[in-house]
Amino acid sequence: MPLTQVHAIGAASRLENVRYAIRDLACVADEVIKQGHKVLPLNVGDPLNFDFKTPPHIIEAAYKAMRDGKNGYAPSDGIPQALEAIRGEAARKGIASVRDVFVTSGVSETVDLCISALVNDGENILTPKPDYPLYSAVLCKLGIALNTYDLNEDDGWQPELADIQRKITPRTRAIVLINPNNPTGSLCSREMLEQIAELARRHNLVVFSDEIYDKLILDGSPEVPTPHIAFAAVAPDVPCITFGGMSKNYLVPGWRIGWGIASGDAAVIKPYIDGIHRLLRARLCANHPEQYAIKPALEGPQDHLVEVRRKLRSRRDLTQKWCESTPRISCVKPRGAFYAFPRIDIPESDEVFVKELIRQKHVMVVHGSGFGQKPGTQHFRIVFLPDEQTLMKAYAGIAEFIRERYGS
Ligand SMILES: Cc1ncc(COP(=O)(O)O)c(C=O)c1O
Repeated sequence: MPLTQVHAIGAASRLENVRYAIRDLACVADEVIKQGHKVLPLNVGDPLNFDFKTPPHIIEAAYKAMRDGKNGYAPSDGIPQALEAIRGEAARKGIASVRDVFVTSGVSETVDLCISALVNDGENILTPKPDYPLYSAVLCKLGIALNTYDLNEDDGWQPELADIQRKITPRTRAIVLINPNNPTGSLCSREMLEQIAELARRHNLVVFSDEIYDKLILDGSPEVPTPHIAFAAVAPDVPCITFGGMSKNYLVPGWRIGWGIASGDAAVIKPYIDGIHRLLRARLCANHPEQYAIKPALEGPQDHLVEVRRKLRSRRDLTQKWCESTPRISCVKPRGAFYAFPRIDIPESDEVFVKELIRQKHVMVVHGSGFGQKPGTQHFRIVFLPDEQTLMKAYAGIAEFIRERYGS
């Protein structure tokens, strides 16, 4: 009789706080789907779930690479033509002090790798609250205590500078900026970037500037949006890794292509870049054939972006109008990306609100507590990617739910 193990195999205890509310809600939705209902998904930021299509020339480039046999391992930092195109993109963003660029399997890997290569036990990095939950998940995975700074809802969700200042300790190594922001849709002002740069200089910090939504600016017109301000363009001397990728701007989230642009004083940032490259080599390479689409994406026609911004502006405006006219809800107007983060005045937690909303009205949004928020406040995140008709149906369901459950 072979010996059979009887003890359950426990997961590492440092994973206890790893949460990804956006996908964790799927269990509740599954219950509803099993009962035969269709769920309106305003929860996942994947444009391909809706009426957005990948530009054909980008697909052709990846397909050609596969046909041409580019199916082996790639160089660890990325194929040369992609690296050159990313350097070109950095120049267009106004980043003059580029010291290195590298390709990753999505910005998700850039985040993991750049944090892992920097932070020692007992050190911390400042992340925004609310934040995109990947940051806290990576920190939990590494056993690093969270150190969050507030985004100020009363100031259009700008980072709260005084809170950042208060939270910097001798063991703080970096500040994360998400600009345009997920989940609030806010954009950092130039003055704010300058002030954060000043803090980074004073405390010898790295800045991680997540700019994955930089071409999805909804201010200005769809043809000529208000220019996005890259942190590294404002502060060329400050050690910075700018995160960018194909998922959102080029409508290929499933390809898993992202990158990092390292900038700052060459001598200051060099040891850190060497560390990043050690990890890049250890994980072999990013997806290979898809890298052949980076240059055509960044340097080819950008027409799809006009169409994407046109749709997003119309859906943002509809969302904002609904927020303004619905009792118990208020919302800072989103200026970029495709998220709104309305505040809701209810006598129970936003997690209960969201779960009951799925069960009763089959509309799926994500609770604010899944992103972190100021104590005593409640929010939910809307992904306004669906077409106007779907959004209106979802918003009617939410308004009805609020009326029935809480009164007006
Ligand atoms: C702010 C932010 N950073 C990073 C990511 C991850 O992007 P990727 O698909 O490139 O891994 C997302 C995805 O939603 C995001 O919203």
